[in-house]
Amino acid sequence: MSGAGAESSAESGGFPDVRPRRLRTTPAMRRMVAEHRLHPADLILPAFVREGADRPVPVSSMPGVVQHSLDSLRAAAVDAAEAGVSGLMLFGVPDEAKKDAVGTPGTDPDGILQVALRAVRAEVGDALVLMADTCLDEVTDHGHCGVLDADGRVDNDATLVRYAEMAVVQAEAGAHMLGPSGMMDGQIRAIRRALDAAGHQDVGLLAYTAKYTSAFYGPFREAVNSSLRGDRRTYQQDPPNAREALRELALDLAEGADLVMVKPGLPYLDVLRQIADRVTVPVAAYQISGEYAMVEAAAERGWLDRERAIEETLMAFKRAGADLTLTYWATEFARWLRAHS
Ligand code: PBG
Repeated sequence: MSGAGAESSAESGGFPDVRPRRLRTTPAMRRMVAEHRLHPADLILPAFVREGADRPVPVSSMPGVVQHSLDSLRAAAVDAAEAGVSGLMLFGVPDEAKKDAVGTPGTDPDGILQVALRAVRAEVGDALVLMADTCLDEVTDHGHCGVLDADGRVDNDATLVRYAEMAVVQAEAGAHMLGPSGMMDGQIRAIRRALDAAGHQDVGLLAYTAKYTSAFYGPFREAVNSSLRGDRRTYQQDPPNAREALRELALDLAEGADLVMVKPGLPYLDVLRQIADRVTVPVAAYQISGEYAMVEAAAERGWLDRERAIEETLMAFKRAGADLTLTYWATEFARWLRAHS
C-alpha cells in the first residue's frame, strides 16, 4: 500500500516516496488542484441607505463603507450587478426623529428602506436579488430588534405581528427576498404566512438560522446609527452553543426557510460546517461589520496583506460549506475575481 505510512522506506534511503508538495509547485498546478473556487455569484453585498442624505456618509469604523444616499445606492447597485455579484441586502437608516417604540418607519410605505427598495428595483430590475433586512432595530428608538412589553423585555409575539406587517410592505416595495434578522421564535412562519396571505408567494426568506450575540457587530451600530440600550442576549444565540444551532435549523426549515445563514462568519465556522452537512437548501455566511473592520484596520497599519486576507476569509466560508457569503467587500472582490480569472 502506498500513501502515508509507506514512506521513508529503507530503499529510498529514508527520503519520502510520497510528496504532497508536487501538487504545489506552480500556480497552474495549484489552480488545477484547488478544491474550492470563489465566484462573483457567491457574493451578496449588504448596503446601508440613509434618509435625507444628499451624498454618501462614511462609516468611520468601516473604512470604505458608507451610508448611501439614494443616488449613490443606485450607482452601487449597478456596480454590484456589473461585477457579477448576486444580491444586495439593504438596511435603512431613518431620520432619528422618526424612530419610535414600535418602529413605525419599518412599516411606512414611504420609510427609507421601502423608498430605497423601489429605487433600486427600478434601476436594476431583476439583475440582482434584492433583499431587505426585516428587523426593528434600525427603526426603534430603543434599538432592540423587537417591541418591548411593560417591563421593558422584548415581546416575542407582539414583535412577530410587526415583522409580518414589515414583510408585506417590503415585498410591495420590490424585495425579492427578506432577511428576518431579529431571532424571534416563529419569525419565519409568521412572515411566510403574512406574505402568502398578501399574494407574495414568490418572495423568499433568508433565515438567520444561527445568529449569535457578538462583539463583532460593533461597527454595524455606527452604520445604522443604532441607539441600542442594553444587549441582545435574550434573543440572539449564546456563543457557547453549537448544538442549539441545529435546533434553530430544524425550526427554520419546518417554518419554510428558503436559505439558511450563519452569522457572524469566522468565529462560527464550526456551526457553518455542521449546518452545511445537514441541509438541502443553500447555505449562507454573513461576514459581519467587525470582521470587515478587523482586516481593514490591520491592513491600514501594514500588519497584513489586505487582498490576501480578504481572499482567505472568503475561502474559509466556502471551505466550511457556504454557498453564499454576505460581505461588504462583495463588489470589490467580484472585480478582482474577474480581473484574475
Ligand atoms: C439586526 C442586524 C444586525 C446586523 C445585521 N442585522 C445587528 C445586530 O444584530 O446587532 C449586523 C451586521 C453586521 O454587523 O455587519 N437588524
